[in-house]
Amino acid sequence: MTTWVGTSWKMNKTLSEARDYARTLAATDQGRWPGVQPFIIPPATALSAVSEVLGPRSHVLVGAQNAHWEDAGAWTGEVSVPQVADAGAQIVEIGHSERREFFAETDETVNLKVRATLRHGLTPLVCVGEPADVFASGGSVPYVIRQVRAALDGVGDVSAVLVAYEPIWAIGARGRPAAPSDIGDVLAALRTEWGGSVRGLLFGGSVDRSNARSILGVDGVDGLFVGRAAWEVDGLLELLDLVAGR
Ligand code: PGA
Repeated sequence: MTTWVGTSWKMNKTLSEARDYARTLAATDQGRWPGVQPFIIPPATALSAVSEVLGPRSHVLVGAQNAHWEDAGAWTGEVSVPQVADAGAQIVEIGHSERREFFAETDETVNLKVRATLRHGLTPLVCVGEPADVFASGGSVPYVIRQVRAALDGVGDVSAVLVAYEPIWAIGARGRPAAPSDIGDVLAALRTEWGGSVRGLLFGGSVDRSNARSILGVDGVDGLFVGRAAWEVDGLLELLDLVAGR
């Protein structure tokens, strides 16, 4: 079984910082993490630089943080799936809570983007997760299941799809790290519905070296989607070593 360990840099890093990170990762890689699939998701500006530094034989997959559902056209400020693929992306992150909250991403646009990503043969990484009030009232399972159903609506073959469960209350500097007991029910429900059919079920939100192992121990979790703890390359390397048991 493959364990996924990756990071989105969000809106961070200049080109030279991105190249430095990729250079260190490429030099350390060389089959060091058997059974682990590393991935990094730079900002669009750094996609091609990172892909070039990693090179065609890299074990590290590269992703985009977003892509439009149309292939081309008058969509100022957007990038398309063919464009991010051309820049080296193999994964497209879709529906992160920051995009849902601040950039009008909806279940409907998430679904359009999932279909566009699959149409071009890339891997959609669909992010779902409930806000704090839904968690507090015990409504996490139906909320998250409904989000995933909407994202995958009309998608016949979901075997290329990655799903990241990222409860909003656990994300970011103001987030509260999740205990395994907080997330077990949602992951069990996700596993029951999609466990055998999707490419992987990941967890994200304040993941770091202190909780990585316990989160991976939760039934249904196939990987970790990390933010802050892997923004410096040493943080990602440490997590990869930890998960690979080195
Ligand atoms: P964090 O971000 O690890 O910094 O909480 C996670 C995410 O937004 O995917």
